[in-house]
Amino acid sequence: MERFRCCHSHDFAIEKERFKDDGIETHSSEEQKNVEESISHYFKYFQARSHAEKESFDLPTLKKDQHLPFLRKGLQHLSNSYECLDASRSWLCYWILHSLELLDENVSNDEITMISQFLGRCQCPKGGFGGGPGQYAHLATTYAAVNALCILGTEEAFKVIDREKLYSFLMRMRNEDGSFRMHEGGEVDVRGAYCAASVARLTNIVTPELFDGTPEWITSCQTYEGGFGGYPGLEAHGGYSFCGLAALVILGHGKLCNVEKLLRWTVNRQMRYEGGFQGRTNKLVDGCYSFWQGGALPLIHMVLAQEHNEYLSSERWMFDQDALQEYLLLCCQYAGGGMIDKPGKARDYYHTCYCLSGLAVAQHFAGGKIAHLNVLGDPQNELKPTHPVFNIGIEAVTHASLYFEKLPVPTSS
Ligand code: FPP
Ligand code: ZN
Repeated sequence: MERFRCCHSHDFAIEKERFKDDGIETHSSEEQKNVEESISHYFKYFQARSHAEKESFDLPTLKKDQHLPFLRKGLQHLSNSYECLDASRSWLCYWILHSLELLDENVSNDEITMISQFLGRCQCPKGGFGGGPGQYAHLATTYAAVNALCILGTEEAFKVIDREKLYSFLMRMRNEDGSFRMHEGGEVDVRGAYCAASVARLTNIVTPELFDGTPEWITSCQTYEGGFGGYPGLEAHGGYSFCGLAALVILGHGKLCNVEKLLRWTVNRQMRYEGGFQGRTNKLVDGCYSFWQGGALPLIHMVLAQEHNEYLSSERWMFDQDALQEYLLLCCQYAGGGMIDKPGKARDYYHTCYCLSGLAVAQHFAGGKIAHLNVLGDPQNELKPTHPVFNIGIEAVTHASLYFEKLPVPTSS
């Protein structure tokens, strides 16, 4: 029982980790205290239950039986409330398929064909994928579609991707300085560089001219805090930090940014009381940052391990993996299946995907050749590991790489 941070037998030990406003109340400090208060009920409920049931201690459980029907339903039918995500249907395919693969749940051959054909209809005549059939190509929906097809992992799915046209789409999104526009005439930010690098690496279409100047441009997004902003001069944020670092790792330039400073910023985004991560300084915990921030730690580990670092553990990432699992299992599971940002919020497929991805990162350490499992609660909570660079299963990355590496890299025309 001592294993659980929120469940010590003598006193409620994490109470001392609560936010202190030093007598100065602000809107942000009030919001922070409200969130801690709502979370304390979930921790106390678990504590009370575990004391009452000492004999048959109820371990925190990942409610797979409830998450699976929620995910399976989303592959077949979405209610009217999803209308606002009509331009994100390739994202929905990815969020659901990745959640299912983490839960080690198979997708039938008929479903593979149905989803491959649907994503084929999202592919644009001039390359890249839109969020739905007939929509303009966008780098984010292209990333989602390519990831989804790689998770499906069949020849039928791989063949949907027109690599020549994908390459020409990426070249058209590229700016002179190595940054990328999200779509024709669209905004430039570090998500673009990551989405481009990720799909290009997975499908083996990386050329020197496609990413000339990109690592330097990405590095210029790192801020004085240590995290990355979306664009040079903007506030550091977990979503953009992940994109910046993962893109640098894909391009083989992880060392170009200040990794120590990024490490310091990232670990300080883990909340002392809640155990989950916030996206930026002085903001609230949110389950999705379990991956955007938590997933950066394996990448940072990878970059630091390139040089001999005797302080690098061979068993743990450099964040509190137990505290994160506690937050996700006790506070982020929606009663009827699916996962959420924080207590009181509605479930959705985005948060289900990134809460589960963060949980997988917290459970599986893999530094070099050494793997170490750290599953909090019921041993059945164990998920499949995720690849921290692409955020699809390790086997899906291997399988896609083996398939695409046999095909020629397109040349610029
Ligand atoms: C702030 O929202 C959120 C952002 C500024 C963008 C976050 C970016 C990502 C999650 C990365 C996306 C990655 C890809 C691959 C497309 P907010 O102000 O509502 O939330 P906050 O208070 O938690 O900062
Ligand atoms: Zn979120």
